[in-house]
Amino acid sequence: MLSKEQIVQIENASLQEGLSIVADLFPGKVVFSSSLGQEDQVITDVLFRNNIPVKVFTLDTGRLYAEAYELLDRTMARYKQPVHVYFPEAEAVEAFVNAKGVNSFYESVENRKECCYIRKVKPLNRALAGAAVWVTGLRSAQSANRQVMKMLEWDEDRKLYKFNPLIHWSYDEMMDYIQLHNVPYNPLHDKGFISIGCAPCTRAIEPGEDPRAGRWWWETSQKECGLHTAR
Ligand code: ADX
Ligand code: SF4
Repeated sequence: MLSKEQIVQIENASLQEGLSIVADLFPGKVVFSSSLGQEDQVITDVLFRNNIPVKVFTLDTGRLYAEAYELLDRTMARYKQPVHVYFPEAEAVEAFVNAKGVNSFYESVENRKECCYIRKVKPLNRALAGAAVWVTGLRSAQSANRQVMKMLEWDEDRKLYKFNPLIHWSYDEMMDYIQLHNVPYNPLHDKGFISIGCAPCTRAIEPGEDPRAGRWWWETSQKECGLHTAR
């Protein structure tokens, strides 16, 4: 377990230092989940440019935008380092789509959560097996749910530390970093897409709309898929 002093040290460090300290404290046991969104591309840039030994992975739900796959390739070519891909269990996807239809997530929140569970949460659990620290690109400004999140939290369900190094970053700080370091990003971000998930469940937003308004836009639910909150 981390001491209070270590936690304070990590929370006060720069992005690069914080990631390096955590990687040193838990050698081989720090993993980073990248959705290939802007926040995650910033973290990937810091990890890969500084050779910080953290395993980077993405969850390929099978329903991502073509632009996301293209960015995945572009990112690996740029840094010459791997982004590991986790895919859902074929049998679980087959059983679900054959029972309910390929786009049943539009019909009910229950179907949508089941789809997210099969395509994201289960593969995430597989990717996190054996890890001591899970790094994410969460920012508190993204949503009301995320305002209560801390930079470093103990995840009791998963029995690991969750490290959200960008939690206090503003949208503008993130964009400045991307420009300054010429970080590769999804071209959909320039077309009104702020938060990007699966293609059928994401739309562009209008200026002034909530940043997550384009995710599961037909729902009035909390707009979380179960990766980061209880339902
Ligand atoms: S979600 O819960 O609504 O899907 P969001 O897209 O805001 O999450 O991303 C928040 C963080 O969750 C990302 O910074 C990343 O760490 C993780 N994440 C979300 N989707 C994926 C994905 N497909 N693959 C890997 N990590 C993901
Ligand atoms: Fe399924 Fe949509 Fe969730 Fe992707 S975001 S896993 S397509 S319900």
